[in-house]
Amino acid sequence: MMRVTNLEPTAFPRLLSFVPDRLCIRHTAFTRPRCRKSSLFTTSCLNDVEVTIATDHNYGNKQVIAVTPRIYDYLLTNVREPPILRQLREETASMRGSQMQVSPDQAQLLTMIVQILGAKRCIEVGVYTGYSSLAVALVLPESGVLVACERDMTSLEVAKRYYEQAGVSHKVDVRHGLAVDTLNSMIENGEGCSYDFAFVDAEKRMYHEYFELLLKLVRVGGVIVIDNVLWHGKVADPLVLDKKTESIRSFNRALMEDERVSISMVPVGDGMTICRKR
Ligand SMILES: C[S@@+](CC[C@H](N)C(=O)[O-])C[C@H]1O[C@@H](n2cnc3c(N)ncnc32)[C@H](O)[C@@H]1O
Repeated sequence: MMRVTNLEPTAFPRLLSFVPDRLCIRHTAFTRPRCRKSSLFTTSCLNDVEVTIATDHNYGNKQVIAVTPRIYDYLLTNVREPPILRQLREETASMRGSQMQVSPDQAQLLTMIVQILGAKRCIEVGVYTGYSSLAVALVLPESGVLVACERDMTSLEVAKRYYEQAGVSHKVDVRHGLAVDTLNSMIENGEGCSYDFAFVDAEKRMYHEYFELLLKLVRVGGVIVIDNVLWHGKVADPLVLDKKTESIRSFNRALMEDERVSISMVPVGDGMTICRKR
């Protein structure tokens, strides 16, 4: 049995990371890139902002800042976004569904997790035009691979064009089709426990299924990041009862009880993250 503490809760206020309870661990030969930069996490205390104070008195007067447009604009000016990602973001902005793209700050966090892990083998479920997958591919070592699962060929064509342009096509294994089918075929193909990192950003009602399949594919100690677990705040509103919201709520509840993984919920880009523990 092995517990993973790659992401200490103190490093990320409320990041959800978990790893499954499965054995087949083939990750000890994991090589890290030679020249690794240190990772810096910053937190701040702001005076001039909207502050939310926990209503549960057991939290004392714990203050949480609300991200206002001004703060978010400031935050974005402090994100290192490679020019190729910016170009993709700008091209996608005029496309249908552009709001689905992860934000630059979120992509930066994903790539930092990939780098901290020294990940070589990654999976993305839900590629769209490729912003998050390109961000990950850019930081993978030359021998790294990202299996990119997407059902929509039109958006996938944009992604593939950018992988080419960025010179990372050789690291991206594009799988057109339903993600569940792709993940199942990878398991049948004997790829269980061989991945270091996975990012889920597709059909919200399939989160339980994606999670269970990814637990089989990601090694003990690996990290699974799940986007949109706060679902634009709807999960916290008891009056919102639509199927997607209910499904994400049920997924979040299940994770709380799931001893196979360590968890941490991070309110970044409306997202939250998952990693594997036993
Ligand atoms: C939120 S977007 C992904 C955004 C992407 N991560 C980015 O940064 O640009 C969700 C994508 O998942 C795809 N998708 C939804 N359900 C899927 C499924 N069952 N199998 C494969 N792809 C799916 C959609 O076509 C869409 O492109």
